[in-house]
Amino acid sequence: MQEDGKHLYEKVAEVVGNMVQTGTLRPGDKVPSLRALSRKLKVSVATVMQAYLLLENRDLIESRPQSGFYVKVSRDRLPAPRQKRNRSQTPRKVQFGNTVETIFALANQSDVVPLGVANPAPELLPLHALGRAVREVMARETDHAISYDFPPGVPELRRQIALRSADIGVDVDADEVLITNGATEGLMIALQSVAKAGDVIAVAAPAYFTVLQMIEKLGMLVVEVESDPDTGVDLDALSDWFERQPIAAVVVWANFANPTGALMSDDNKAALVALCNQHDTPLIEDDVMGDLAFNGGRPRNCKAFDTRDTVITVSSFSKTLAPGFRVGWTLGGHYHAAMMQQKQLNSSATSSITQLATARFLKHGHYDRHLIRLRRAYQSQVQQLRFGIAEHFPPGTRVSDPSGGFVMWVELPAQTDSQLVYEKALRSGISVTPGLLFSSTGRYNNYLRLCAGHPWSDTMQDAIKTLGRIVTRLAP
Ligand SMILES: Cc1ncc(COP(=O)(O)O)c(C=O)c1O
Repeated sequence: MQEDGKHLYEKVAEVVGNMVQTGTLRPGDKVPSLRALSRKLKVSVATVMQAYLLLENRDLIESRPQSGFYVKVSRDRLPAPRQKRNRSQTPRKVQFGNTVETIFALANQSDVVPLGVANPAPELLPLHALGRAVREVMARETDHAISYDFPPGVPELRRQIALRSADIGVDVDADEVLITNGATEGLMIALQSVAKAGDVIAVAAPAYFTVLQMIEKLGMLVVEVESDPDTGVDLDALSDWFERQPIAAVVVWANFANPTGALMSDDNKAALVALCNQHDTPLIEDDVMGDLAFNGGRPRNCKAFDTRDTVITVSSFSKTLAPGFRVGWTLGGHYHAAMMQQKQLNSSATSSITQLATARFLKHGHYDRHLIRLRRAYQSQVQQLRFGIAEHFPPGTRVSDPSGGFVMWVELPAQTDSQLVYEKALRSGISVTPGLLFSSTGRYNNYLRLCAGHPWSDTMQDAIKTLGRIVTRLAP
């Protein structure tokens, strides 16, 4: 205790608190490291630590995993994006034409800062272990590695996926798993197996645009069901659609949706499955982000609440292991046989070598260890990106706060044209995904999807600053 009745750590906390109050340290800034401040103030590291814990208790700073302490950005500065009502009352055709391809052809160039693509950075992936697995496969399973592996896919891989199924709340055996060329093929064959041209598909919106493109190419119609950026698909809105006309299938992203990051609660998942059952409608859940919960707890899937075997789970290892391996899988339940036939028609087989290598990687227990590191990295990258947005984007900006995955949904001030933001950002060497891709109605034009799949760096920091300037100039 000092003469003035204050503990030393309280005085240290006061020094840092003043830096925040005077704006020397701004929301999102990293506060001095424990060592740096202890040297500067000539106090022990333990005293600084105690001061930081006090400031953390007072909600002034927060610790970020593996990264240190940061000035907290109040949630008021980063409110969640708003749900946007779908005013369309009838099923629609999707008419994207080649918009998606055009946007991604430009955004995928190697020299742009990749805030637009939902890909993990290669440096986050277990390259050595995967390389070893591929070499072992070629050396020890040569014949299998170079031969067709017809559906349902490599038995050991299906067994490994079945072993993990308890984590998502279901109990399946290897015979119920179908291996696909990524989740993309899984989604396509799911749609082809449950619906035909002219049928109406209800899709949670904002929606992962590839599903909208599939609906377009398959000549189906879409009804878009609003989703809350925090809690997921609006069940009342879905129920209203069911009352209006027959729905052939429902497609949702229940765990860390792309683009919002929303996580549906177990109660909502159960209610969603019950609603689909009540209308005899299959539910397709795309779960590519499900393994990426920041708190490490694997959320359950809609399939966990499926009593009729009419939920189709689609997933892949693209966001966790290696997008280029093209290893995805489905649990088709009642539709498994139909999907297997469709898979055979679409692509005959999935690459044997990457299936075998993935099976080895899983079997040797590498996956869970890798996931621990990966989730931590994504969590820290998502936080850094959110803080960058809070600091550099204009007032009126809102951003989702996902608890898993690595995509974020950003609502820009009303009337800001995200297509123009996309074009100007690209000219500055930065890719973003404009909101209009996530609906057939064009109603998300003042939204952006940003992805935090790459480690934070000075380049990222500069990019978000530039992006903030672009948005500020374009905001009315
Ligand atoms: C939500 C979602 N589903 C599916 C996919 C496609 O996954 P895959 O690369 O396994 O085909 C992606 C990839 O961006 C995605 O974000």
